[in-house]
Amino acid sequence: MNGPPVPEIERILFTEEQIEKRIREVAEEISERYRDGNLKLVGVLKGAVFFLTALARAIRIPVKIDFLSISSFSTRPSAPGVVRIAKDLDESIEGEDVLLVEDIVDTGFTARYLLQTLAARGPNSLAVCTLLDRTPRRIVQVPVAFRCFEIPDRFVIGFGLDYRQLYRNLGYIAVIKPDRNSLPFAL
Ligand code: IMP
Ligand code: MG
Repeated sequence: MNGPPVPEIERILFTEEQIEKRIREVAEEISERYRDGNLKLVGVLKGAVFFLTALARAIRIPVKIDFLSISSFSTRPSAPGVVRIAKDLDESIEGEDVLLVEDIVDTGFTARYLLQTLAARGPNSLAVCTLLDRTPRRIVQVPVAFRCFEIPDRFVIGFGLDYRQLYRNLGYIAVIKPDRNSLPFAL
């Protein structure tokens, strides 16, 4: 057998139906908030792709989309990474109302770095929209304007979130059983 071991799912946190319902509610808020704006969703590859497309389809106002990807290095497995942009946006965000779309805001380092970087490019407005928010692990403060769900301090997979690049395509979000040998994570 190739590849990583299949993690055992401990419990499902959010079903596909719950996620879709919540995304429709958040899309409604966004449609109201940006009704007279110039909305662009900026997704962070790869985790946010599933959330961004579902969100975009539920938004009822004109919307543009663009993507960037980041890589982070850390000196120790458990240390927060130094973030940099690996693939930049295709287009300018000057004058646009940018919503940074994330799969999860965890320590906050990624979102803070991206907010600082994007703010320097002259958007009309800039805010964060995240599928999951894990506030117990926050190290740096990040303003989160829109969130679908708060989650406890456990590693999750599904709906874009991966474990060793797998399980992004699960329709639900699940907590996996601790594998202390392979997860650089508080479990
Ligand atoms: P941070 O907020 O800079 O710590 O980074 C958050 C990033 O770490 C996310 O965009 C995910 O890619 C990844 N991540 C954090 N927690 C999880 C998890 O529970 N499952 C899968 N990926 C995670
Ligand atoms: Mg990510």
